[in-house]
Amino acid sequence: MEFLDALFGRRTTNGPFLPDKVSEDHQQLLIKAAASAPSQFNSQPWRFVVIEDRDTIDTIARVSGESMTAVISEGSFFKRYRHHFRFSAEEMAEHRSGMYFDKLPAALRPFTKAVFTPAGVTAMRALRVPQTLGEENRKLVAGSPLIFGVMLDRAERNAHPLADFYCQFSLGAAMENIWLTTVELGMGIQFISFPMEMPSQWKRLTELLEVPDDLELMALYRLGYVPEQPSRPVIDWSSRERKPPSQFVFRERCTVPQEGWDEA
Ligand SMILES: Cc1cc2nc3c(=O)[nH]c(=O)nc-3n(C[C@H](O)[C@H](O)[C@H](O)COP(=O)(O)O)c2cc1C
Repeated sequence: MEFLDALFGRRTTNGPFLPDKVSEDHQQLLIKAAASAPSQFNSQPWRFVVIEDRDTIDTIARVSGESMTAVISEGSFFKRYRHHFRFSAEEMAEHRSGMYFDKLPAALRPFTKAVFTPAGVTAMRALRVPQTLGEENRKLVAGSPLIFGVMLDRAERNAHPLADFYCQFSLGAAMENIWLTTVELGMGIQFISFPMEMPSQWKRLTELLEVPDDLELMALYRLGYVPEQPSRPVIDWSSRERKPPSQFVFRERCTVPQEGWDEA
């Protein structure tokens, strides 16, 4: 596969994976790709825990589903992230960023406009929408053959005022390498982020994975091979939309937007 094809073909996988085990060779290649990323002073601050054990994955899935139910039910999720949500093609065309929820579950559709209001959240709760979504999320995670836990060294992160930025930047580069490699391998990858929204749940997972005190669990990802004809998930959390260069590139001074690149 040509490199740029892989780069532009990279996706977040919101749907189910095939149940097949990810081969040991592919697991190794993903980690090798991560380790080849740049890092400040070649510090390589990343650590990974590779998870295939069925019980562990089921527990992570349960915690993830419960977390999703809880944060959606209390309304904080929509409040915190509402500025990223789009509910019409016009809104999407205006912002060219964020998530366009053009395929909501039937139970949620009547609340599209009201989803951010207290009344909307109350109505969703009455219809047990948070439970339905949480269960969808649990199934998605439980159906994943592989999970990566991603950690950073606490001492390295706290070494000096810029250290945390450098560590997270390096980890981001490592994760992008993994993400790109999944394309070559016919795999997909997705953040398991809802437990991060609840410190108590994140602590549960940190303990489950026996993360030592000198490391911090930064993120969890589910991975697997993608079906030939993936079906769209119940809620599509991703978006291919991108801002045109004139909205995020400047020429010489940050007062001058880049011109002439938007059509390329
Ligand atoms: C820091 C970060 C956090 C993200 N969190 C989530 C997440 O919680 N759940 C998810 O499904 N995708 C998550 N994503 C993926 C984005 O939603 C996705 O990259 C974006 O919508 C663009 O879609 P694409 O990756 O398919 O191009 C995250 C990506 C990044 C870089």
